[in-house]
Amino acid sequence: MDQNELKSLVGRAAVEYIKDGMIVGLGTGSTVRYMVDALGERVKNEGLSIVGVTTSNRTTKQAQSLGITIKDIDEVDHIDLTIDGADEISDDFQGIKGGGGALLWEKIVADISKHYMWIVDESKMVHQLGAFPLPVEVIPFGAQHVFNKLAAKGYQPTWRMDGDQRYRTDENDYIIDLHLGKIDDPQAMAEELIHMVGVVEHGLFLNRVNDVIVGRQNGPEILHA
Ligand code: A5P
Repeated sequence: MDQNELKSLVGRAAVEYIKDGMIVGLGTGSTVRYMVDALGERVKNEGLSIVGVTTSNRTTKQAQSLGITIKDIDEVDHIDLTIDGADEISDDFQGIKGGGGALLWEKIVADISKHYMWIVDESKMVHQLGAFPLPVEVIPFGAQHVFNKLAAKGYQPTWRMDGDQRYRTDENDYIIDLHLGKIDDPQAMAEELIHMVGVVEHGLFLNRVNDVIVGRQNGPEILHA
């Protein structure tokens, strides 16, 4: 199976955890895209009745095009289950997210979810976090100064680009990617970043996930954190 087939495999496996009547958090990214397609099929073919809360405008558009009911996050008082992708997952179930730029809404949705699941192909499973550039979402005002501070700390920042323009998130913020190589203390890094003025959120998702479905050549593997 190639990487896309593995993504499709875990997307389909995850949808089986969605039950009638649930409020479901829908993540963002190429793996989640397969999951939302599969969810759309269940809604259409089985009459599955769920309410979705999305983590990006992209996912909203896809879900609504498939006939999935979407509510604004502030219209629900909880989320039963959120299914999202991830960019890296370490041995101890810590994660980097935000490769698709949706980390802020993803973390807000994760925060009110009773159950939180990641779906990944096996290439995302790593011993230690950091090879994947760590995204940091910053507000545009004074963003160059935040960038300079990150550079001075030796974090090798780069601006996330969209063609020749800086990438803008759904909140109209910028993303700075940190090329760290490895992160020895994710908790300390998370604390440092979130306390920098101008930083809205970062892509370290620590002590959050309950289950991970990993797409392997011999089928989906379910891991419990
Ligand atoms: C979106 O901002 C990300 O957090 C994604 O969940 C993550 O980048 C995984 O994306 P893929 O499924 O496309 O690899």
